[in-house]
Amino acid sequence: MRRLFLAVGATLVVAAALLTWWHLAFAWLLVPLVVLFGVGLRDMLQREHSILRNFPLAGHLRFLFEAISPEIQQYFIERHTDGVPISRNHRALVYQRAKDLDPTHPFGTELDLYDKGYEGLRHSMYPVQALEQEPRVTIGAGRCTQPYEASMLNISAMSYGALSGRAIEALSHGARAGGFYLNTGEGSLTEHHLVGECDVVWQIGTGYFGCRDDQGRFDRDAFVERARRPEVKMIEIKLSQGAKPGHGGVLPAIKNTEEIARVRLVEPHRTVLSPPGHSAFQGPRGLLEFVASLRELSGGKPVGFKLCIGREDEFRALCEAMVETDLLPDFITVDGAEGGTGAAPLEFTDSVGMPMRPALQLVHRTLQEFDLRERLVLIASGKLLTAASLVRALALGADVCNSARAFMLSLGCIQALRCDKNTCPTGVATQDPELVKGLSVADKRLRVERFHRNTVRATLDLIAACGVSDPAQVTTDIFLDAESWADLGNPRPG
Ligand SMILES: Cc1cc2nc3c(=O)[nH]c(=O)nc-3n(C[C@H](O)[C@H](O)[C@H](O)COP(=O)(O)O)c2cc1C
Repeated sequence: MRRLFLAVGATLVVAAALLTWWHLAFAWLLVPLVVLFGVGLRDMLQREHSILRNFPLAGHLRFLFEAISPEIQQYFIERHTDGVPISRNHRALVYQRAKDLDPTHPFGTELDLYDKGYEGLRHSMYPVQALEQEPRVTIGAGRCTQPYEASMLNISAMSYGALSGRAIEALSHGARAGGFYLNTGEGSLTEHHLVGECDVVWQIGTGYFGCRDDQGRFDRDAFVERARRPEVKMIEIKLSQGAKPGHGGVLPAIKNTEEIARVRLVEPHRTVLSPPGHSAFQGPRGLLEFVASLRELSGGKPVGFKLCIGREDEFRALCEAMVETDLLPDFITVDGAEGGTGAAPLEFTDSVGMPMRPALQLVHRTLQEFDLRERLVLIASGKLLTAASLVRALALGADVCNSARAFMLSLGCIQALRCDKNTCPTGVATQDPELVKGLSVADKRLRVERFHRNTVRATLDLIAACGVSDPAQVTTDIFLDAESWADLGNPRPG
């Protein structure tokens, strides 16, 4: 290929040079040929890309097609039930709910209901009337002087930094209008979260952003200053997140702007590392004492922690410590390994942590075993974006659900999969001011509120079809899957 390129390229350039010498009008031919020949020569001499050394010029096509392959995949190849991590049908459902459009589906299901992985719900012969109003879930009753009444669906942790300021502002306004909470993510509490005057859950990660000293250790005074703000309704300690459990975070220097540095209490324009584990406490007792101290420092607000389950024995040890010390969190957020992230190493995303459903079941049953279940609230997250997925989480023990990516979709996210590149085309997950400009807070705040309202309504309708009206009464009896009808046996025995 190299020889062919040299021979053809040199011949064409010489021919074009002779034509130009004969008549200057042929210069238009000579110039691009010389440029292309120069690029090809450079390809052959560079050492970084073997493909370009072996296939000068032609090798660039590979890079071009690779760059546009996600778009080709999504626009031309993807079927309605395809698309990862969130299928086209599910993305469309969120868009419809966010726009208050008719979310009906024509002609029948596109799923193969005889597929082994099929999961449905059992309806009742005696459906009941769905509740008009969603019942609120009280968090921190008995332990807190400022308990919180939560909606069944809320915005899961996403930091300012991972999301743009405008995206957070639209979420804040939407949450205020719909009466649900917005979790700040570990990137600290910012003006963008507060602008809509919604209920805020302040998340504290291992970097203690917004409540740290100059060594990166937990700082009580800085914590009190923010935790006592009236908008902050609850505090969540982040132990781990499903998409990257046990992995610390990196705030690259380029993203560490003056504004981000100010709210996170770090030096600007420097790379900031958050360690994988907490330095403010150690072990189960340490965690529970930290929870109790934050409750007191916050002025009696509910305090809980978020984790992705890894080792069952560690969770049991934590329950034992709760029983021994009688120090309990007000809530536990169980995040599934299928959860989303702005950026994470692929091995962590694909291979670490328990998915939400088994994790939720494990936590629910272990708490029951230790007689703790009724004393705290369980929050679940991990691909909860349809009403059916919410009902399944409630049946497995969740009292409250959080969603991150569904709310991103309601903001206009198109699953371009560029959250880690700062090039999100919809302005949702980028800090590039030119891209952020495209996101209209005035429009997207309405979509956030509508997505929440329509999803809660659909969830209450689905529960009612299963014969109960109160979400707290939903149990795993309503699950219908291939295994459950395998038990029905042979219809014509003998
Ligand atoms: C862009 C983005 C940023 C996130 N940032 C955080 C974070 O700061 N702290 C955290 O605990 N989880 C974070 N998460 C995880 C979500 O809060 C949630 O647990 C997870 O995505 C599961 O929910 P989902 O499947 O509805 O997206 C983030 C997720 C996304 C998509």
